[in-house]
Amino acid sequence: MTISAPRGTKDITPSDSYKWNYLEKKFRNLCDLYGYKEIRTPIFEYTELFKRGVGDTTDIVQKEMYTFFDKGKRELTLKPEGTAGVMRSFIENKMYADAQPTKLFYITPCFRYERPQSGRQRQFNQFGVEAVGGDSPSLDAEIISLAVQYLEEIGLKDLVIAINSVGCPVCRAEYNKKLREFLKQKEDVLCDLCNERREKNPMRVIDCKNEECQKNLQDIPLMADNLCQECSDHFETLKVYLNEMDINYKVDKRIVRGLDYYKRTAFEIISNNLGAQSTVCGGGRYDGLVEQLGGPEGNAGIGFAMGVERLLLTMEAESIEIEDPHKTDIFIVTIGDKAKVKSFSILKELRKNHISADKDHIDRSVKAQFKYSNKINAKFTIVIGDEELEKDIAILKNMDTGEQIEVRISNLVDEFKKSL
Ligand code: HAM
Repeated sequence: MTISAPRGTKDITPSDSYKWNYLEKKFRNLCDLYGYKEIRTPIFEYTELFKRGVGDTTDIVQKEMYTFFDKGKRELTLKPEGTAGVMRSFIENKMYADAQPTKLFYITPCFRYERPQSGRQRQFNQFGVEAVGGDSPSLDAEIISLAVQYLEEIGLKDLVIAINSVGCPVCRAEYNKKLREFLKQKEDVLCDLCNERREKNPMRVIDCKNEECQKNLQDIPLMADNLCQECSDHFETLKVYLNEMDINYKVDKRIVRGLDYYKRTAFEIISNNLGAQSTVCGGGRYDGLVEQLGGPEGNAGIGFAMGVERLLLTMEAESIEIEDPHKTDIFIVTIGDKAKVKSFSILKELRKNHISADKDHIDRSVKAQFKYSNKINAKFTIVIGDEELEKDIAILKNMDTGEQIEVRISNLVDEFKKSL
């Protein structure tokens, strides 16, 4: 009996891995342009970090975490997202003592026990950035522009950039009061989950997937209409900066996000070409998170994460192709035992000179070697037999044009380079 990959996970096989490399390389390059440096944090952390960071009342913490006890009876959790671990590291490594803001990026697998479907896995991958140590909307604008530039550079067109403000502890407390009063009146028509959230985390009610609830929530008070002066100024200034960069956003007052750490700016970038799981990028400001995790005061931050699987699905939906960059430069066809042995030193020399080269490793016939050379799309093929070895001359054939040239085997590297 064979063993399959666990439900909700996927292999990234060679027929796709070059696409991942392409996306990662582009992401690294862009982060570098914006001055963001890479951070790598552990795949697992103490469970407490996510309870405190992501929030006790979120779906992630309540239902979706891969939590286990190790042999030393420590309670650990596979990271469900990147921000909490990065903030833990920011504090532990005293990055707040460096010149601020601290600009970080990461590429990481994440784990959430969710019901798998297209664009939703239990192990998935995120590209993320975090800018810590600044509370001005200037960083919000930079973070959003980085996300937008990345999505544009990989060719995506049909996207909606939706922004909102989810307020700060001051205006949120006032708003929550108002919201609870509103929801209390709807108690009988709302689902159990909404009624549970009503007390603990009322803003999350807006995110309810139940159609009946949504019908009854049409005139629900929204945070963006109840901001304090400071939050309102922050949001308005962000819009000015985004307008200056010609970023085509829309305000969506119903964005609440699924993690508890958000304050003020929250945003999502949505593809019009994906099904139910259409958010390719989500992010926002998390002022106060560093303090909440035991770090020093005054380290506000903002960031985002993109789901790499969803980026690839969107590219596919928009018919954007990524070319496999690998091509074998030379395939060596050998005839006879002497040539077979000689091909090892020829290969070694070619590869030492960074010419991508290959040979037959499974005792194919000459005809089958040619067939294989075609199959792997080799740019050139060279045939080496006893006679060629004796005369130190062989034919190098350009597989695209059919053109053939004579080369000296002992000088193959130079002659190959000249023929390009
Ligand atoms: P998030 O919205 O939970 O935010 O996840 C960010 C992105 O990860 C989503 O927009 C989606 O593309 C992808 N994603 C989430 N869950 C899955 C899944 N089960 N399968 C496939 N893709 C998924 C965060 O994680 C925050 N840490 C983002 C952030 C960084 N906010 C501030 N800094």
